[in-house]
Amino acid sequence: MTKQEYLKAVEQLNIYAYHYYVLDDPMTTDDVYDTLYHQVRDFEAAHPDMIASDSPTQRVGDVPLGAFSKAPHKSRMWSLEDLFDYDDLKKWIARVHKHVHHVDFYCEPKYDGASLNLIYEGGSLKQAITRGDGTIGEEVTQNARTIRSIPLKIAYNELIEIRGEVVIFKEEFERINAQRSARKEALFANARNAAAGSLRQLDAKITAQRNLVFLPYGIGENHLDIPYLDARMDFIYAQGFKEAPMRLTCQTAEAVEAFYQKMKVSREDFEMMLDGMVVKVNEIAAQEMLGYTVKNPRWAVAYKFPAVEKITTVRNIVLQVGRTGVITPVAIVEPTNIDGVTVERATLHNFDEIERKDIRIHDKVIILRSGDVIPKIIKVLHRERPENAIPLTRPTHCPECGSELLDEGVLIKCQNLDCSARVVNAIIYFASKPCLNIDGLGDKIVETLYRNGLIRTVKDLFFLTLEQLLALEGFKEKKSQKLLDAIARSKGCACWRFVNALGIEHIGEVASKTLCERFGLHLLEADKESIRALEGFGEEMAESVVEFIRVNGDTMRELYDIIQPSAPEEKAAVAANPFKGKTVVLTGSMAQPRSEMKAMLEALGAKVSGSVSKKTDYLIFGADAGSKYDKAVTLGVETMSEATMRAML
Ligand code: IVH
Repeated sequence: MTKQEYLKAVEQLNIYAYHYYVLDDPMTTDDVYDTLYHQVRDFEAAHPDMIASDSPTQRVGDVPLGAFSKAPHKSRMWSLEDLFDYDDLKKWIARVHKHVHHVDFYCEPKYDGASLNLIYEGGSLKQAITRGDGTIGEEVTQNARTIRSIPLKIAYNELIEIRGEVVIFKEEFERINAQRSARKEALFANARNAAAGSLRQLDAKITAQRNLVFLPYGIGENHLDIPYLDARMDFIYAQGFKEAPMRLTCQTAEAVEAFYQKMKVSREDFEMMLDGMVVKVNEIAAQEMLGYTVKNPRWAVAYKFPAVEKITTVRNIVLQVGRTGVITPVAIVEPTNIDGVTVERATLHNFDEIERKDIRIHDKVIILRSGDVIPKIIKVLHRERPENAIPLTRPTHCPECGSELLDEGVLIKCQNLDCSARVVNAIIYFASKPCLNIDGLGDKIVETLYRNGLIRTVKDLFFLTLEQLLALEGFKEKKSQKLLDAIARSKGCACWRFVNALGIEHIGEVASKTLCERFGLHLLEADKESIRALEGFGEEMAESVVEFIRVNGDTMRELYDIIQPSAPEEKAAVAANPFKGKTVVLTGSMAQPRSEMKAMLEALGAKVSGSVSKKTDYLIFGADAGSKYDKAVTLGVETMSEATMRAML
């Protein structure tokens, strides 16, 4: 890197940082930023006399936005040095061991949100301050007070700063973006920006609607006389704060690495976004001996997970017709490796989204892959748009059958019930895992059978013959017989599989199970009122079932005859007890793991539901019960402590 290249890189980093930190509107991925940042840092290490005064390495954060009043932290809020692999980790641990021997390492998730400092005095929350530049932040006390996981009072009277991360759970993030999409507002690029943006609302009422969550990770100024970090965290949790979903105190690099690998593979299962694991020296005295560099503690590091966001180019946009006729645009992108998986397609959801995000063919975009869901485009890099970018026009005719499309605004639908794409996708769905679970009847085979005229509806599957299959290219005796056997085996399947396979709008696996538990094989005779009364059912769902039966009753009867689904097993008679036949909801932490409590109550004949509604009979609460408890009280649902429940048994 020449001096000129270095100065350019600094300028670029400052532009990125301004968009990222000040505007909450990232221009690029963390990966691109980090790579450039490390180049700048390396150059500076080799040429300390040339360090630019505005280099991002020379300051901890960025200027806070103007509108809130500024407030100082009682002690500095540090940021962490990043590690990227096991080698980095071993080097860091070796460095620590040079200064202190026999230390333990405390590991917990690195939450992807916005950091917040809470100052308690006399047992009350006095001030909440955003990180800002690490020394001075913005006072957002009113907003923090709306966050349910921040206690307003704690059972400790001395001055203490409790630090943590404000996050938005993934599900809540999806909900907020869906709502914003419906209101035609700009979408948040990720959960981190949504959390930061929500925390910095001048109107605390808006913050309150965002269901932010505070996860503590440390202590600033304090008068505690607890010599270990893990015990200090226990102290914080005991004040009513939310616990880390995973944490470990251990001794060796191998143990830290093993825990990191474990956290990395389960990162999709957490409710919040994690971008790595934080490793900290556990002994406070050892932390003090290690001290700080200009920017970071020497006693803690962030061991980052591989990025799940990448930049790629849209090669084309194709249209897919689903089993309900909805046309979904899909971006075909330059193949890109994200965390070991090659991504070639990204869903664009619907046409409104394409227009709102202004996505064009040849655009550079940021794609996000999380878990096994289809990757999505979260941002278009409009500044880098090439001249030949082609906008997509809304289709007027079905790309599969050519019939005229119904444009409903957000959704565009093919209304032709015989449209080959609709029929094929409906059959693929019918045979899929959560439905009839017919082994070997995947996309390709359904398409082949359809193309060769062997199946036109799901009913035809059950009349296929060996001769017909053998006449197809690539179908040998063994494969054909296996397929016929699998189809035959699906007969007599559980009733809910059959109902789910019908693909009734708004009725998924859980609703299908509820329907079968209540009506057994007599769903055809069910009336709307009794469907509406089921736990978890609303007007729209009940209407959808009734309407489906009205239109497809005859087909359903024919399929019943062919498939002969089995009625749900009668539950073994349970002795009378206060919970038999009741719907209960569990909340808070209990003496036994949640899964065991659930199994125990189910064995007593209770139905354990995840959310409180008017249909809930009892809410059973443990320690730190939160919003479910409040909701139960609001709805007048009977609440009882875990101890009361046990006493009743
Ligand atoms: S410890 C001196 N622990 O990551 C210790 N930070 O670059 C300073 N973060 O600004 C931070 N989860 O906002 C720590 N478990 C965790 C964390 C965590 C997320 C954030 C925090 C901090 C940044 C560090």
